[in-house]
Amino acid sequence: MDIRGGNISVTQTEADWLVVSVTEPVEITGALEKLDHALGGLVMRLKASNDLTGKLASIIPLRGVTGIAARRLLFVGLGKAEELTAGRLDKALVTAARAISDKPATRVAFVVPSSSVGVISPSKFACATAVAIQVGSLGQDLFRTERNRYPFASVEIISADGGSPGLGDAIQRGLIVGQAINLTRDLVNRPPQEITPVGFAIRAEAVAAECGLRCEVFDLNRLKQERMESLLAVSQGSPQPPRMVIVEHHGGGPNAPRLALVGKGVTFDSGGLSLKPSEGMVTMKCDMAGAATVLGALSAVARLKLPVNVIGYMGLVENMTGGAAFKLGDILTARNGVTIEVLNTDAEGRLVLADVLSYAVDAGADKIIDLATLTGACVVALGEDVAGAFSNDQSWCDSVMAAASTVGEDLWQLPMWDMFDELIKGDVADIKNTGGRWGGAITAARFLKRFVADTPWVHLDIAGPAFASSNKPHREGGATGFGVKSLIELVRRFGSLSDDC
Ligand code: BES
Ligand code: MN
Ligand code: ZN
Repeated sequence: MDIRGGNISVTQTEADWLVVSVTEPVEITGALEKLDHALGGLVMRLKASNDLTGKLASIIPLRGVTGIAARRLLFVGLGKAEELTAGRLDKALVTAARAISDKPATRVAFVVPSSSVGVISPSKFACATAVAIQVGSLGQDLFRTERNRYPFASVEIISADGGSPGLGDAIQRGLIVGQAINLTRDLVNRPPQEITPVGFAIRAEAVAAECGLRCEVFDLNRLKQERMESLLAVSQGSPQPPRMVIVEHHGGGPNAPRLALVGKGVTFDSGGLSLKPSEGMVTMKCDMAGAATVLGALSAVARLKLPVNVIGYMGLVENMTGGAAFKLGDILTARNGVTIEVLNTDAEGRLVLADVLSYAVDAGADKIIDLATLTGACVVALGEDVAGAFSNDQSWCDSVMAAASTVGEDLWQLPMWDMFDELIKGDVADIKNTGGRWGGAITAARFLKRFVADTPWVHLDIAGPAFASSNKPHREGGATGFGVKSLIELVRRFGSLSDDC
């Protein structure tokens, strides 16, 4: 998809769809006023009849318009200017992009306002437009003969009133971020027979080569050498061998601090011998979303050449029920020496992360964030659109929450009180891998805490928002790419760089 920025008149832009945003209440000035003249007062009439309201993410498609060079016109509402946030803007722009990407080879043009809308500057708007164009035109229907969504043939992002400074750079940044989100979505949406631990590692190596990341892949032998017995136990029941992928971006120089991004990469979670029922298993290809989010974010960090040191660690296993599968009652010795009593083989994510987190700590991480589709309990607590945040360091957690709120992804912090340790205290070993139903997201986080030593760490449980069961106007069903934007923004903040997208 070719995206160009330019200073072309809204009325003379040739396109199959011209997309124009409107605030609530609708103010017919600037680009809208020019359009209104060219269209013989149509915008005025739409406003007068209350068809054009500017309500958030409302869309008005007009086909067969005359008087302007574009063949069709789409108005999209931004809501009240003073209420506009990055999250609300994304919702509006992705809704628009999805509405016009249902046919192949569509040429589109998006108009960027010439002055700030509330707190959103023209360059932020342009960047968000470039992201939305990518994300909104890719469906989960990778293998359908007749697709629901098609990439656009060409895209123009135009600034109506004279062009705004830095527009081209902002569009390029948006393109990179949008492609990163789509990489994550693609990895998660692909079937589990393709994205096995080895399949994931092959894709990671290709991405790393393309983006200029260092990449190392640990195979079974290396994982054994590293004493990652907890991770290895999970993979025992599968004929697919495990992997750990490490991708490194050293943009910050040898003495700059190192940020570790850790991802759960269970490429399929059958539950193991604690087998899931079919209803719970059917979407479990998504259980590598944490790892896919880490890879997506790092691809963007490298391509944006952020002057920061960031290392991604992805623990990749398939959780199956083969004859060699790990069993209830097994005692595992994790890499850091902590002994674990297996009470439920479906609580496998924490077993994978345990060893990957302790590896990241030993490799010298100064700060850690992990992402994992870890517990159904977190979805019960916070719903499908909000991730849980857990931490051993409030100021690091505050940075993560601030980054997420800047980009419009919803996180909610849950408590990490000591009393929850009572629930995972082992009878035979140090800890049990489940603490029962109550407070399940928290006991999972308390389990992980045993493997990060004193390193400032945040755990994001993305079991709810990583994968959507159905389409909504503002997002496609299937993988969502949740977390990619927050991680990129967090990396920026980690390097004390300003938020510019
Ligand atoms: N991968 C699942 C969690 C999950 C649930 C992700 C729903 C996405 C959507 C995880 O491995 C799991 O099975 N967790 C168990 C833990 C329990 C056995 C303590 C759960 O949440 O039921
Ligand atoms: Mn599980
Ligand atoms: Zn799982």
